[in-house]
Amino acid sequence: MPKFPPNFLWGVSTASYQIEGAVQEDGRGPSIWDTFSHTPGRTHEGDTGDVACDHYHRWAQDADLIADLGVGAYRFSIAWPRVQPAGTGPINDKGLDFYDRLVDGLLVRGIAPVPTLYHWDLPQPLEDAGGWLSRDTAERFAEYAAAVGDRLGDRVRRWITLNEPVVHMAEGYAFGTHAPGRALLLDALPVAHHQLLGHGWAVRALRERGATEVMITNNCTPVWPASDSADDQVAAAVYDGFHNRLFLDPVLRGEYPPFAAALTDTGVVRDGDLDVIATPMDALGINYYHPTRVAAAPDDSPLPFVTTDIADVPRTAFGWPVVPDGLRELLTGLHEHYADVLPPIYITENGCSTSDSIDADGRIRDTDRIDYLDGHLRALHEAVSAGVDIRGYFVWSLLDNFEWAEGYSQRFGLVHVDYANQQRTAKDSYDWLRAVLAGQR
Ligand code: FCB
Repeated sequence: MPKFPPNFLWGVSTASYQIEGAVQEDGRGPSIWDTFSHTPGRTHEGDTGDVACDHYHRWAQDADLIADLGVGAYRFSIAWPRVQPAGTGPINDKGLDFYDRLVDGLLVRGIAPVPTLYHWDLPQPLEDAGGWLSRDTAERFAEYAAAVGDRLGDRVRRWITLNEPVVHMAEGYAFGTHAPGRALLLDALPVAHHQLLGHGWAVRALRERGATEVMITNNCTPVWPASDSADDQVAAAVYDGFHNRLFLDPVLRGEYPPFAAALTDTGVVRDGDLDVIATPMDALGINYYHPTRVAAAPDDSPLPFVTTDIADVPRTAFGWPVVPDGLRELLTGLHEHYADVLPPIYITENGCSTSDSIDADGRIRDTDRIDYLDGHLRALHEAVSAGVDIRGYFVWSLLDNFEWAEGYSQRFGLVHVDYANQQRTAKDSYDWLRAVLAGQR
């Protein structure tokens, strides 16, 4: 593996609802993912995050696994319903105590904590009041951010406000495949604005509490037109607009792309909002999994595009295409397109699900994951060499975990979890990555 710059930050990522379990402990309130996963037919085989990886009780063992891997950072998320069970009103100190213990436990092991404030587990009472369709949720989010900052800001330097607002809007509110399960199609657009507004206020709240590095994490994808036809080119541009630019232009340039007039013309965006959203960030988090091929939609389609297959490349167990060079393409493309307004970048998620099995000797030979990570790290290095300012890379994920609507059917971990007894077993990819990181020192 080629050498990355000195001080490059290596890490692993997880998210609260996907690993913590303990959903009724120490005063945690219900989240939209509790409700959704307990609704019949919503998740694979009715799987829920009730127990997940039981990380709430086993965090110390998991922190040891992170330390032994040799990474310098751990990106986890804080469950809003633990900290503020109703999403408004009283703060639950016991919920904050958990993250307090975790942060201290990471620091004594020499691991920098990188908390994400919101990875999709909205307190259910806020959803009942309109969820992210309501501007009020953005205000509540800012208050919650301040409460967490008050408690952890003396030890946490780097913060992530939101995880993948585009996926939360699309899957949660436009298509209904994730919590809260609303299928509003284009009427879900205000969800983008309210999340971004909450992000901007949270950046300010965290800065006031001593944060030195604050970022948003966006899911970004290079968009490939399915053909040279004018219709497919237009459809690809529209998809790029919804997926990438809708969430980058406002935070980096303080403006919405022209197609988002539905937001600006309907009063959803108020005077001053874009200044809040464009509050300068110190870095930008990018999650990359695969490129997206897009074609024009048939006339009767409710959306102006359809995604089509990327053929002739390997696929992950999830069926996602494996295109390592898409990461280089994405990063050099952002570097060119956003030029002087692009802050330093962290890759805050990248990884794949594989169909792992435990061999008779106890080993998990996840060679597909090794190939995936190896290819993506090389592509990332090419982007660094091309002059893109990239400061770190986090693997998704430390542990096999609750993969949202796919439940426990998709295994993304460097560490295997046996859900019957919660045993953790490092996979071959874990040992491979540890060796790669040793070579970087
Ligand atoms: C991302 C999510 C993360 C995980 C990976 C596979 O979109 O942020 O929680 O589910 O996909």
